[in-house]
Amino acid sequence: MVNVGVMGTGYVGLVHGAVLSSYGFRVTCMDVDEHKIERLNQGISPIYEPGLEELLHEGLEKGTLSFTTSAQQVVQSSDVLFIAVGTPAKEDGSADLSYVWEVVQQIGKYINGYKVIVSKSTMPVGTSRSIALYLDGSLRGTSYRVDVASNPEFLRQGKAVSDSLAPSRVVIGTESEEAKELLKTVYATHLEQDVPFLFTNWESSEMIKYASNSFLAVKISFINELALLSEKVGARIQDIATGMGMDDRISPHFLQAGPGYGGSCFPKDTQAIVDVGRKNGEELYVVRAAIAANDKQKAKMVSKIEEVLSFDGTLKGRTIAIWGLAFKPDTDDIRYAPSYEIIQELLSRGASVKVYCPQGMRLAKQQWTELSSRIQYCDSEAECAQKADAIVLMTEWEQFRTSSWEKIVRTMRGNVFFDMRNMFTEDSVVRQWFQYYPVGSSEYGYPLQEAQ
Ligand code: UDX
Repeated sequence: MVNVGVMGTGYVGLVHGAVLSSYGFRVTCMDVDEHKIERLNQGISPIYEPGLEELLHEGLEKGTLSFTTSAQQVVQSSDVLFIAVGTPAKEDGSADLSYVWEVVQQIGKYINGYKVIVSKSTMPVGTSRSIALYLDGSLRGTSYRVDVASNPEFLRQGKAVSDSLAPSRVVIGTESEEAKELLKTVYATHLEQDVPFLFTNWESSEMIKYASNSFLAVKISFINELALLSEKVGARIQDIATGMGMDDRISPHFLQAGPGYGGSCFPKDTQAIVDVGRKNGEELYVVRAAIAANDKQKAKMVSKIEEVLSFDGTLKGRTIAIWGLAFKPDTDDIRYAPSYEIIQELLSRGASVKVYCPQGMRLAKQQWTELSSRIQYCDSEAECAQKADAIVLMTEWEQFRTSSWEKIVRTMRGNVFFDMRNMFTEDSVVRQWFQYYPVGSSEYGYPLQEAQ
């Protein structure tokens, strides 16, 4: 049986380790954060991800999953070592690889036999080659040998466990037959399930990850720009997306207009590929346009709120209820969430802001330090709406669907509803009670006649 090590217990590392342990591999996960490791050993997940804690408990009980802060232990106990540490964006948009290099140095230091080192984190094109060069250099004169492979992760937050159990594809970049065979053993379950596999070289594998995320970001920015235009010309963006999606070549996915994409991947990866392009003398105009359109989308959403609610040219005296802080539902992740910038802008225009999110509030309170003292955190969407002039739905949490609208509207001061996720375009009950403004269609809302 192949022993697996995972360095880094963020979204990717933790979910990947837990899923491989559920297939019966002995998996050791390592992280430098002692508190996190202590809690993981008690089966407490540091992130909210459906199905993850169940896998942690199962792995800990069966003894197939363990957590450590010791790099030596994880390196020496593993045949295949996945590098799954963070590669955050630096100020200039390039990827910060300092955590990657820390673990690569530890691998070089503690290595005790043949191993396959797998870059699982999203790493700029050329990183796997550099890791291989570094390790070859540091192992020179010893009898030890490594192979390096790139194996990007395509899981989505909120669906991380189900995506890992049934991925759309497995991409493996390596020229080494030995590494390929070992990785085929690790992914035997996926091979049996007929998940498509692609074997390629390091650089192509690394690029596939950036290309996929950038392409999806382009798709979202494209539909968001058309949504803005639709509002002006009387078209409905959802019908446009449906009509476009009927063409297999386009596909209906990732054509949901909204307040702009966020999260830990699209904003970071689009910047990073533009940076890789520049360093190689290629300007990636399409990706740059997607980034610019995404910034514009957030600004336009604020302008729309202002147009409807402003009184004397500002939002002073207006109270706005924000429903949803997380960048998407079923996650507590607030990284690059469009809600952050929109709240900031509303405050700067004089509005009072109340917020509620089913999962995102704990991290918002911790991380939005400057913003937190200026907004009011509420315990439910109903409490958040009380005495507000408008609700701005930022994240499409299912629980918002079942709200009792009449009760809510009676506690409010106004009755405006900005549906940034087009959750209720088909729901006549919501539109019966609210002045309703979706994204990408002008036919529902009507302007306030006077300040309330
Ligand atoms: C993404 C990729 O989907 C995944 O394959 C990769 O491994 C990591 O990055 P994730 O960031 O978890 O996953 O979320 P995703 O569901 O892709 O959504 C990203 C952002 O785009 C969210 O803010 C979401 O609200 C937005 N989005 C998505 C839209 O605005 N419209 C859409 O049609 C789809």
